[in-house]
Amino acid sequence: MNILVVGGGGREHAIAWRLAQDSCRPTLFCAPGNAGTAALAMNLPISAEDVPGLLAWAREHRPDLTVVGPEVPLCLGLADALAAEGLRVFGPCQAAARLEGSKLFAKEIMTAAGVPTARSQAFDNAAAAVAALAGFSLPVVIKADGLAAGKGVIIAQTRDEAVAAIRSMLVDAVFGAAGAQVLIEEFLEGEEASILALVDGERAVILPSSQDHKRVFDHDQGPNTGGMGAYSPAPVVTPELLPVIMNTVILPVVRELKKRGIVYKGVLYAGLMIGSRGINVLEFNARFGDPETEALLPRLTGDLIPALEACIDGTLRDALVKVRPEVAVTVIMAAGGYPGPYTKGTPIYGLADAAKVPDSMVFHAGTALKDGQVVASGGRVLAVTALGKDLETAVARAYRAAEKIRFEGAHYRTDIAHRAFNR
Ligand code: AMP
Ligand code: GLY
Repeated sequence: MNILVVGGGGREHAIAWRLAQDSCRPTLFCAPGNAGTAALAMNLPISAEDVPGLLAWAREHRPDLTVVGPEVPLCLGLADALAAEGLRVFGPCQAAARLEGSKLFAKEIMTAAGVPTARSQAFDNAAAAVAALAGFSLPVVIKADGLAAGKGVIIAQTRDEAVAAIRSMLVDAVFGAAGAQVLIEEFLEGEEASILALVDGERAVILPSSQDHKRVFDHDQGPNTGGMGAYSPAPVVTPELLPVIMNTVILPVVRELKKRGIVYKGVLYAGLMIGSRGINVLEFNARFGDPETEALLPRLTGDLIPALEACIDGTLRDALVKVRPEVAVTVIMAAGGYPGPYTKGTPIYGLADAAKVPDSMVFHAGTALKDGQVVASGGRVLAVTALGKDLETAVARAYRAAEKIRFEGAHYRTDIAHRAFNR
């Protein structure tokens, strides 16, 4: 079986690593992949956002399955294009991926489906948006409608900050067309968690819960990042909450889309705020989360391909997802300067020593091979993951592995899973 994995981050290395263990021993291709996927797959020099390039390769090589990692190709219609060629693809069609690609559309679907979410108002005019701020208390959340590489959400502590955020999007167009419409949203308090569900157009299976760490420094200080670590499960998602999330979030959204003729197949990721007002949806993603996937996939046992294929075929059932009792922790090692401008090309040492730590996996996030040497090539460089019988064990192992790895400027948070420990 030939499988194409689209993407080149830690998520895609984890996906390829997991697929490689399936009993059918698939032959893997990764576009573009990284130095980590190069050990499991043939890397293709095609960008994950180059839909015509990916399509041309797939037409020629006819993979039995394509698994799409990132949101951009999904929102550009890669799944539709592959399906039109008669190819099987795991990932939603363009119309379904709008759930991530347009925050206004996501709100419209949630409102129609009665899914709990923060009150919000949409604007394409700065003066009207600024006037509407009077109807929201502080802090207030300003969101660009479209994809903004994780930078399109601003939590404004003051009215001036909110006005500046609105102007930057609607007047200065810092996010281009993605910011041509903005949402003003009420700020929700609580603890965040990520719920990823496999969806086959009708049915869903919720995967183990997880929690991301967005801020760059310990104690949730400093600017937002793509995610500095994750662990699974997240105890804030108690077992009693799972059916609530299924019945008030996941299934209503899938049904509302279906009512509109949109069949959602793939991973539906709900970013939740769990607090005194119960469960509220902050955002949807149309894909596996990153770094959540690096913590989540090592917890799945048995074959993964049948579960992905069941999503495509509309034959999903609970028994296709088997979860190990061990917990998992992922620590992101980032490049010097990240999330600001960061250095590239620094050699990475100690990967072989880290690999010797029991039950640990070093997923490559932003790496490349240069004359046979693994070098850093992205802001998030490595996703060091470990399993353990409990959180203490998994955290200790992940940090033991991370400490063996060295590259100039490397930094990582030392408090991954602090919320679970503080409970
Ligand atoms: P998003 O890009 O939609 O995931 O938003 C980025 C981050 O902003 C989320 O992970 C939350 O930490 C925060 N956020 C978004 N919306 C809200 C909200 N309504 N209230 C509080 N925090 C929010
Ligand atoms: N970890 C957040 C995301 O994947 O969007």
